[in-house]
Amino acid sequence: MQDKLQLLEDKLANAQLGGGKKRIATQHEKGKLTARERLHFFLDPGSFEEIGALVMHRSADFGMENQRIPGDGVVTGYGTVNGRFVYVYAQDFTVFGGSLSETHAEKICKIMDLAMENGAPVIGLNDSGGARIQEGVKSLGGYADIFYRNVMASGVIPQISAIMGPCAGGAVYSPAMTDFSVMVEQSSYMFVTGPNVVKTVTNEEVTAEELGGAMTHATKSGVTHLTAGNDIDCLEKIKTLLSYLPQNCEEQAPKLPYALGDEWREDLAGLMPGNPQQPYDMREVVGGIVDEASFFEIHEHYADNIIVGFARLGGRSIGIVGNQPLSLAGVLDVESSRKAARFVRFCDSFNIPLLVLVDVPGFLPGTDQEWNGIIVNGAKLLYAFSEATVPRITLITRKAYGGAYDVMNSKHIGADLNFAWPTAEIAVMGAKGASEIIFRKEILAAEDQEAMLAQKEAEYKEKFANPYLAAERGFVDEVIHPRATRRKLIKGFAMLENKSKKLPKKKHGNIPL
Ligand code: HXC
Repeated sequence: MQDKLQLLEDKLANAQLGGGKKRIATQHEKGKLTARERLHFFLDPGSFEEIGALVMHRSADFGMENQRIPGDGVVTGYGTVNGRFVYVYAQDFTVFGGSLSETHAEKICKIMDLAMENGAPVIGLNDSGGARIQEGVKSLGGYADIFYRNVMASGVIPQISAIMGPCAGGAVYSPAMTDFSVMVEQSSYMFVTGPNVVKTVTNEEVTAEELGGAMTHATKSGVTHLTAGNDIDCLEKIKTLLSYLPQNCEEQAPKLPYALGDEWREDLAGLMPGNPQQPYDMREVVGGIVDEASFFEIHEHYADNIIVGFARLGGRSIGIVGNQPLSLAGVLDVESSRKAARFVRFCDSFNIPLLVLVDVPGFLPGTDQEWNGIIVNGAKLLYAFSEATVPRITLITRKAYGGAYDVMNSKHIGADLNFAWPTAEIAVMGAKGASEIIFRKEILAAEDQEAMLAQKEAEYKEKFANPYLAAERGFVDEVIHPRATRRKLIKGFAMLENKSKKLPKKKHGNIPL
């Protein structure tokens, strides 16, 4: 018995070592933690249980039969984060560059299956040279097995990817199909084809960082939702993100205890500039409404004319979508529509109520927008809001013009409660543009055309640039004083807590992709 126990201990110790001390040291030199260190930091102390520590590859080609390392380049298992179960895998770059073999893929699939069957999030810590080159199609098949599970798990359990090293080729498609990805600055990159192939095919010279580094994907492509300064920061961000989410699509997000107190927020009344053309920061409106320091922004650096993120309101988790007047006057364009649509669909999948803050002058005009499909992309947001069955509350702070009024969670597309501040202007377009069109003849005939335009503009403003016409129709449920906003929203979401709405029976809709 004693030798059998010793054998087990030796095998497990061997698995702990991964690719060996030298390779671990190299990982540290690059400023990266090892797979096991990452899990140690990520999970509650002592909660990690490993599954498949002794798995080894079955490859016999290219000398691989003599290189078999327990674990085969990925550490898999489960544990808890702040007391809640999660399933995890962490690729171990010290073993064959974290490359994905048939067995490595099987280990990840096993974890994903357990996560699905038991209804808990799956978190992947990616650090891999891609398909295990020595294994050929077996490795490609392994990737596809993972991709398939990503799709099956989509909308059932939250899936989060950390990109903590290389992520190239087909390896990028699993993170792309998860709900959120977080990239570590300077030590991670994602691309379908690397700089060498780019140079060969297009003759472009580009570094890995420029082509697919964290800030590239945070600002240009929007592939990553969050960036992190280092491994620890990355794991902390995932823990924070998880705190807003339910374990699966049949549960509600955790609710912190909260007793209604003095919910008046005088500061909100002073936020709106006197001049309607002057920008202000919608984040300040968010900050004034939600529980203290609870706003967790997603996609901060991408399409910053719209803000999206999670927050708590009276202890409840909510998703926020808000036009941002500080950037492009908060206009809707291709990127912002796509960004918001994806976020709305995530919140709807996981029972997270939506608060929509509206100050939007319309859709961005121009050939660039039309040729890049503002029609189909704007339609994504319209579709996403329309099909969302979670509690949805809208607050119009200032402009709600044209089609963007309809799109931004209007009453007409199923919002439950629509509030407006007295500064709201709900109209087909801005007063100047509208007057130039409908009073064109009078303006042209006038002796002083500028004075006539100003007069007509004032008339139009008087009539439409307010929330009262919409309130008369019931398109706005209530015009509220800004200081009462937080209280109204807490009570509104509490009233909607048991909302139950079903979509018409269908296989699935056909969102304009
Ligand atoms: C097998 C690999 C490997 C791979 C790295 N290694 N990638 N082994 N398959 N894909 C091994 C190396 O041979 C090396 O082993 C060790 O891991 C560390 O790699 P280094 O190159 O020394 O590290 P570094 O300099 O940091 O460079 C990392 C790297 C580079 C940029 C990731 O290794 C690289 O370019 N790898 C190949 C990437 C690639 O083309 N992958 C296939 C993508 S196609 P030793 O023993 O020397 O230490 C793909 C298709 C999937 O993934 C399609 C699915 C649909």
